[in-house]
Amino acid sequence: MLMNWPERVWIYSPVRVLFQKREIRKFLKLGKPENCDAALELGCGLGRGARLIHKSMGFKDVFAFDLETTLVQRSYSGLNQDSKNNVHFLVSDAQFLPFPDCSFDAVFNFGIIHHVLDWRLCLSEINRVMKSGAIFYFEEIYPPLYANWLLKRMLRHPTEDRFYENDFLGELAKLELCLFQGVRTGSRFGVVGAAQKL
Ligand SMILES: C[S@@+](CC[C@H](N)C(=O)[O-])C[C@H]1O[C@@H](n2cnc3c(N)ncnc32)[C@H](O)[C@@H]1O
Repeated sequence: MLMNWPERVWIYSPVRVLFQKREIRKFLKLGKPENCDAALELGCGLGRGARLIHKSMGFKDVFAFDLETTLVQRSYSGLNQDSKNNVHFLVSDAQFLPFPDCSFDAVFNFGIIHHVLDWRLCLSEINRVMKSGAIFYFEEIYPPLYANWLLKRMLRHPTEDRFYENDFLGELAKLELCLFQGVRTGSRFGVVGAAQKL
């Protein structure tokens, strides 16, 4: 589901990048991929996450997509000459990933899966495109944060079949994505974590 304007104010703000930088530091503390050939970012917004992944984690190629064409165009125009050959933006839907099985060493989710109608299908697609040993890095939020009495009036998100921590982490376990030790669980509001495909 596409963002409405109040959410864009947050996503376009420079503060959002500071949060993403902090999350990448947390990701790296949890675990690093064995290989850094190719990474995928879901729902890339303005493409800042993909640029950070390329710069700070050293992936040879980073593929990043969004449902919204204008965001993909803006992401592409934000690339400098050096990264144009290695950071690739495309329009796609997180429920139907246009990549073969076992394509990526890491997949990144900076807070988009709660926007996806069939979030279980999205997780199974992530699992499908991960190589064995690949890592799924995620920052995700739950209804008490994005659908509290104030934000549910301001923001636009799907309302049916939403996930809380047990649902989200339970689905990862069903897919046999193994949560890293050190992931801080137990928050009502969200999680920053990583899980590995064994
Ligand atoms: C909360 S924003 C996060 C943007 C970016 N990841 C960030 O952290 O700045 C959610 C993004 O997911 C995109 N999105 C929503 N549903 C999607 C879907 N089914 N497939 C791909 N992208 C989607 C939206 O267009 C939006 O750019």
